Amino acid sequence: MKDLMAANWKMFKTIEQAAEFMQEFIDLIGDKMPANRDILIIPPFTALDSVQGARSGTGIHMGAQNFYPQTEGAFTGEISPQMLQDAGCTFALTGHSERRHIFKEDDELIGQKTRFGLDSGLKIILCIGEKLEERRQGQLENILRKQLTTALQGISQDRIAQNLVIAYEPVWAIGTGEVAGPTEIAAAHLFVRTVLTELFAEQGEKIRILYGGSVKPGNCAEIMALDNVCGVLVGGASLNAQSFAQIVMA
Ligand code: PGA
Repeated sequence: MKDLMAANWKMFKTIEQAAEFMQEFIDLIGDKMPANRDILIIPPFTALDSVQGARSGTGIHMGAQNFYPQTEGAFTGEISPQMLQDAGCTFALTGHSERRHIFKEDDELIGQKTRFGLDSGLKIILCIGEKLEERRQGQLENILRKQLTTALQGISQDRIAQNLVIAYEPVWAIGTGEVAGPTEIAAAHLFVRTVLTELFAEQGEKIRILYGGSVKPGNCAEIMALDNVCGVLVGGASLNAQSFAQIVMA
């Protein structure tokens, strides 16, 4: 399976800025599109159409930052996996720490979204990660195990390695400039791998595990070289076409 290099733009970029980014990024990548890496852009909803138009024929994938676990209905302000697929999305995030902490999404809702998204045919990137005080209290493994098992309860093994991606993002490293060290990343990824194989047997060996949290052009190669790191989920440093192009090619 290819590594996955994902750009989470969060609540940044107008339609025009998204189009400008895509043009510059595609020009920079040119024919150097890495054969062993998938590239994924996760724009805000309003820029999906712009990214969809620009990515056509490039092999770049597009994903959504959020969705509601229903096909349609009276859910003012929400958007369904089917609508996102209609707009060209093949991936979506669940469990991002900003959804957990700002919007109070709990493990149960994240599990519902993960199951519904997968059943709808989206590839889901389930984000997990501990807060600094939890790490300090020695709770890292408990937190990661709970987030994984609650969100993945009842999920069938069918094509799970193709359709599910886990992103390990220590909350204290997101948007802070603080990167987890190689030893911390490798240990957390090994633990996630262990839980995935408990849950999904040999399928769990193949599920991609991404690292996220202050990934930049300067630290990406070192992170990608670690065992059980199968890609990165990038926020801040993905907003600039040059910096994301450097990350993708690192
Ligand atoms: P960051 O964000 O790269 O800005 O730390 C990562 C994320 O939130 O996925």
